[in-house]
Amino acid sequence: MTSLTVIRGPGGYAAGRLAEELGARLVEAEYKVFPDGESYVRIPERLDGGVAIVVQSMFPEQDRRFVETLLLVEAARGVGAEHVVVVAPYTAYARQDRRFREGEPISIKTILSSVRSAGADAYITVDIHKPEALAYFEGPTVNVDPAPVFAEALRGLRDVIVIAPDRGALHRARSLAELLNAPYDHLEKHRDRVTGEITMKPKELSVEGKNVVIIDDIISTGGTIAKAAEILRSQGAKSIIVAASHALLVGNALEKIAKAGVDRLITLDTVPPRQGVEVRSAAPLLARAVKRLAEEQGWLTVE
Ligand code: R5P
Repeated sequence: MTSLTVIRGPGGYAAGRLAEELGARLVEAEYKVFPDGESYVRIPERLDGGVAIVVQSMFPEQDRRFVETLLLVEAARGVGAEHVVVVAPYTAYARQDRRFREGEPISIKTILSSVRSAGADAYITVDIHKPEALAYFEGPTVNVDPAPVFAEALRGLRDVIVIAPDRGALHRARSLAELLNAPYDHLEKHRDRVTGEITMKPKELSVEGKNVVIIDDIISTGGTIAKAAEILRSQGAKSIIVAASHALLVGNALEKIAKAGVDRLITLDTVPPRQGVEVRSAAPLLARAVKRLAEEQGWLTVE
């Protein structure tokens, strides 16, 4: 049988857990930064004819993690891997998925096409900002939906409503709400035609007396979640729980969120966790995705 080897890159925070779930060998990549700032990686074992699962998340410093990803893929080829799968639990640059202003790049296109050009056969990530962006990787991809992990964490909660902070995140709310058997909605801006005042509220549903779960992909500065939590509190939410896949929590984001009235924050191990944050593992879902993909591609042949 073709062997699966998990390579832990410098951003491979969840690699150990993934290797365990897959029952695969874990190889630690060597890495360092040269005095002039260049990145160095090395895979210290041969992977002849096998499938290399390069685990490398793109949390800050994103640029370095990205370059390391490219180098790891090339290195995996160099030590003889027949197939290389990149598992990037967090994909950076995904929010710049179009030219919002003339002259801007489509950053995610550059990221994914470069990973492909470096020699990756497939790309697996968790809850990318917009799933459609994965089309920029010209090969098989999987966007792991974290809803089952969040649903498990919320098991037993009553009077729930799931809210997306904007329309773009509605697919996340729908997916979690279906598992919780709860209603879902998204926040929407309203402008008073007479006064011009802008208010935000759920598009259709009331949150009064409800346990509100706000779901989003990324928490960076915490501004989006803090604003949503304040609004929902002011509209009578009984409690506010946040389910966010990638808790980057830059600067004082955590304090900001707590101050806005968030009772509980649930995140995933796609980026290194901050102390005091409730972290659930995406590794079982990632392992399933890796296995399914490798089987579908015929990369796990029994000899
Ligand atoms: C935006 O579209 C994303 O889905 C997140 O809502 C956003 O990136 C969160 O950023 P911040 O925490 O800085 O508000």
